[in-house]
Amino acid sequence: MKEKIKIMTIFGTRPEAIKMVPVVNVLRKDPMIELIVCVSAQHREMLDQVLKRFGIIPDYDLDIMEENQTLSKITSKILLGLEEVFKVERPNMILVHGDTTTTLSATLAAFYNGIDIGHVEAGLRSGDLYSPYPEEANRALTGRIANIHFSPTDGNVSNLIKENISKEKIIKTGNTVIDALVNVIKDDYVFSDESLNKIDYENKKVILLTAHRRENLGEPMENIFKAVKRLVLENDDVELIFPMHLNPKVRMIARKYLENNKKIHLIEPLDYEPFANLMNKSYLILTDSGGIQEEAPALGKPVLVLRTETERPEAVEAGTVKMVGIDENVIYREANELINDNEQYKRMSNAINPYGDGKASLRIVEAIKTYYSN
Ligand code: UD1
Ligand code: UDP
Repeated sequence: MKEKIKIMTIFGTRPEAIKMVPVVNVLRKDPMIELIVCVSAQHREMLDQVLKRFGIIPDYDLDIMEENQTLSKITSKILLGLEEVFKVERPNMILVHGDTTTTLSATLAAFYNGIDIGHVEAGLRSGDLYSPYPEEANRALTGRIANIHFSPTDGNVSNLIKENISKEKIIKTGNTVIDALVNVIKDDYVFSDESLNKIDYENKKVILLTAHRRENLGEPMENIFKAVKRLVLENDDVELIFPMHLNPKVRMIARKYLENNKKIHLIEPLDYEPFANLMNKSYLILTDSGGIQEEAPALGKPVLVLRTETERPEAVEAGTVKMVGIDENVIYREANELINDNEQYKRMSNAINPYGDGKASLRIVEAIKTYYSN
C-alpha cells in the first residue's frame, strides 16, 4: 500500500476552529490521509466550545492563552511550542486557516522546519496593512510563504495572482464556513437557553451585535455601543442581543454602556449552532466580524459592518452587506433606516452566497491529494 499523506491541521481561535472542523472531518475519513490535529489554544474557552460541540479531541494542545495576551507573546509561544511538536511528528503538510496570529506563527514554524504549508481561506485582502490589524499582515505574509493556496472566491484568486503567486498553486474552493453553516441551520430551531426562546422574533426587530476587533477597542467601540443604545431607546419594537466576546477589554466597555436595560440582552458567547440559528431569527446584524459577513448573507440577513474597510467585498457588491464605519451618528442613521424603511430593508434581505456551495472542504482535500500524487 502507498504511504499515507501526513497532514497536521493547526488552529487556535473560535473562527478558525469553526471553519477548519469541516476540513478535519473530510481529512479524517480519507484512507489516503493520516491526520494530526494540533491546537494553539490562542483562545481557550471559545476554542473549546467549538471542539466540544463537534467532538474533536486534539492530538496536541499548546494551551498558550493568557489574559490580555500580546501579539509577541502569542507568536513566540507558538513558534517554540510547534518546534517541540515537529520534533515528534513530521507532517508532509500543515494546514492553517485565514489570518490570526496562530496562522502566521504556525506558518513560520513549518517554514523553519522544512514542512509544506497549505493555506485555507487564502487571498483575502483589505489593501490596508493596518486594517484589520494585524490580520491583513498575517494573511499576506502567510500567502507569501505557503506552498498551496485554497481561495474562497475569484476575487481572492486574483489578489494572489497580483502578488505573483503562480496560478497552479491556487485552487478556488469556496469558503468552508458555508460547509459548516449548511449543517446547523433549522427553521424550527429551539434554543436550550430559555431566555433566548422568550424573545419575540416575529413581532420585535431583533438586532444581533458582535464586536471584538483590536482596532475597534477603545473609542470606536464606545461609539458602536452608544449608537445601538440609542436605537434601542428610540424604537419601541427594537431589542438588542450582544453575545460578548471574552476579551476583557470588550466586556468592560459593553457593560459600561449596555447593562441594565430590559431590551438589551448581554449574553455569553454562544455555541456555533445556537449562534447561527440566532442570526437566522434576527432582523438585522451589526458586526465587525469577518466570518459573520460571510454567513449572514447566505441567510438573507442584512449586515451593517462596523469597520472602515473589508476584505470581503463580494456581499457588499451584491447589496446584502453595507460598510458603515465606526462613527456613532452614521451607525445610528444607517441602522435606523433599516428598522423604519421596509423597502430598503427588503432590498438588502436577499439571500446570496458568493462564498461557497458547502463543498469547499472536499475540494481542499482532493487538491492536497493531487499535490502529492504529482
Ligand atoms: C483573535 C484574532 C482575530 C479573530 C478573533 C476571533 C489575532 C491577532 N486576532 O482576536 O483575528 O478575529 O480572535 O474572535 O490573532 N479570551 C478569553 N477566552 C477566550 C478567548 C479570548 O479569555 O476563549 C480573552 C483573553 O484575555 C485574551 C483576549 O481575550 O488575551 C484576546 O484574545 P486574542 O486571541 O489575543 O485576540 P482576539 O481579539 O480574540
Ligand atoms: N460565533 C459563535 N458564537 C458567538 C459569536 C460568533 O459561534 O457567540 C461564530 C460566528 O458564527 C462565526 C465566528 O464565530 O462563524 C466568527 O468569529 P469572530 O467574530 O470571533 O471572528 P472573526 O470571524 O471576526 O475572525
